[in-house]
Amino acid sequence: MQDLLSFRDWNSTSMHSLLKLAVELKRSPEKFGRPLEGKSIVAIFEKPSLRTRVSFDIGINKLGGHMVYVDSQGSPLKDREDPIDVGANLACWADAIVARVYEHKTLVDLAAGANIPVINALCDLYHPCQALADYLAMFEKLGDVKGKTMAYIGDGNNVTHSLLIVGALLGCHQTVITPKGFEINPNIAKHAAKLAYENNVSLTIANDINELGQADILYTDTWLSMGDNTPLAEIKDKFAVYQVNEALMQRSGASHVMHCQPAHRDLEISGSLMDSDQSLLMLQAENRMHAQNAILAMLVGNVALD
Ligand code: CP
Ligand code: NVA
Repeated sequence: MQDLLSFRDWNSTSMHSLLKLAVELKRSPEKFGRPLEGKSIVAIFEKPSLRTRVSFDIGINKLGGHMVYVDSQGSPLKDREDPIDVGANLACWADAIVARVYEHKTLVDLAAGANIPVINALCDLYHPCQALADYLAMFEKLGDVKGKTMAYIGDGNNVTHSLLIVGALLGCHQTVITPKGFEINPNIAKHAAKLAYENNVSLTIANDINELGQADILYTDTWLSMGDNTPLAEIKDKFAVYQVNEALMQRSGASHVMHCQPAHRDLEISGSLMDSDQSLLMLQAENRMHAQNAILAMLVGNVALD
């Protein structure tokens, strides 16, 4: 478990232990001291970020460590040298690498070159730190994740993939409803189905919004992810019926709504629902730091999982 690229190779026991560590670190950080004392973490971002960048920086600081930020302008991952060599060089000075990249392969190559942990801060296929923060929010609001149902509605993307993987490992039933042509990655769908079977949870994947059954949480994300230059006008009509709004909440019986943000008011989610008491958006944002601190404490700070 040197790197955290996707949670794909994790099992249910470790996933529950990591969630427990995140809960404990959030509730009683003083019990853990400063597990990153004297450690330096390099954060390379090929894409923009508000939540991930700031929550990593502040979180690392709270754990006693120090973060060096490298932005897309100065990104060494562009053309200057191969990611495997970038990883090897960074490992000469740093204790871990946090990276937000276009292609998952870049993370694999960085990790191949670096004998220090590499943490995925979002790529085209996964957003594992987001998923851990989201299930932490679900645990806090609903008392448990096991046996609950999360329904993801909208574009099948990196966030969907990580929610499915982490959710199945935590025993959460899943529904995914996407417009035709915007389904999740078929290989990841296959893996999610396997995990769902092994962990005794249901997985429903559909295109028709009328297949949305009962759910505890409705989750949505942007219809156009970073790097997707499709004009909004081209897809807007197709996605309109997938908007998560008060009517959909009522139909599904969901008590809360989630969105990883950045959110687009009155596109994928109604602005009024974002601002309502049913919204967990700010709790999710808050939990980014606590979830990432658990990952950092485990991978870099030698804090053992139970
Ligand atoms: N949710 C999330 O990753 O937000 P940022 O893109 O602002 O980091
Ligand atoms: N799916 C979105 C998530 C942003 C946090 C994207 O990749 O842009």
